[in-house]
Amino acid sequence: MLLSVAFVGLMASTVASTPLKYKIPASMKVSADCTMPSEYTVSDFSAFTDRSNQTTVSFVYVDKDTGINTRCERNQTSKPHNTNPSLASRYACDDANVEFIYQTTGVAGLTVIEAACPESGSSAFEASSLVPFNQTCGSTSKRRNCTSNPSDITNEFTSLEPRPAGAKAHVSVF
Ligand SMILES: *[C@@H]1O[C@H](CO)[C@@H](O)[C@H](O)[C@H]1NC(C)=O
Ligand SMILES: *[C@@H]1O[C@H](CO)[C@@H](O)[C@H](O)[C@H]1NC(C)=O
Ligand SMILES: *[C@@H]1O[C@H](CO)[C@@H](O)[C@H](O)[C@H]1NC(C)=O
Ligand SMILES: *[C@@H]1O[C@H](CO)[C@@H](O)[C@H](O)[C@H]1NC(C)=O
Repeated sequence: MLLSVAFVGLMASTVASTPLKYKIPASMKVSADCTMPSEYTVSDFSAFTDRSNQTTVSFVYVDKDTGINTRCERNQTSKPHNTNPSLASRYACDDANVEFIYQTTGVAGLTVIEAACPESGSSAFEASSLVPFNQTCGSTSKRRNCTSNPSDITNEFTSLEPRPAGAKAHVSVF
């Protein structure tokens, strides 16, 4: 734990933050050592559907400003991270400060959600974004594997909102 606190401090002092494409809400307290989510990269996306119609979604999420580099996967044993079932199901990445929603109806596609400023210990805000890509799918009668086109997508967050009620609190580094 001490190690991760030291690491965050190092990141904050060495990373020049990218200009933000959203306004920080007045109600949000941003501590001096906090780096806001600004830009992310999604790579190695695949949505693989097996013969029993179970789809496994996986990708790698990187936010170089906040120092996050994590694998994300939703498979048939994954449980939604949110406690409020009326929210679209969110799944946690290996670094649970990042969650995602993947759906083929409603707001279709992959949405990524990054907890804003978890180093402040009390952040109730999150940046979220629908990841802009098309899918290229290959299929046989028994399996179907879709990948993103382009394969690496770098995109900026354009919104920062309060975390909805019933979405699990982020994992604090403290
Ligand atoms: C898989 O899903 C497709 C499309 O929803 C459906 O047509 C098909 O019958 C399903 N197959 C199985 C084995 O459930
Ligand atoms: C399902 O995904 C979780 C989260 O990434 C992973 O820990 C687990 O090993 C996966 N299960 C299977 C059966 O692949
Ligand atoms: C997805 O495909 C549509 C139609 O071909 C195209 O207009 C759009 O630019 C593509 N989006 C991306 C992110 O490549
Ligand atoms: C789906 O396609 C991707 C990209 O080609 C590949 O990395 C992945 O291993 C494939 N998944 C399966 C289960 O075949």
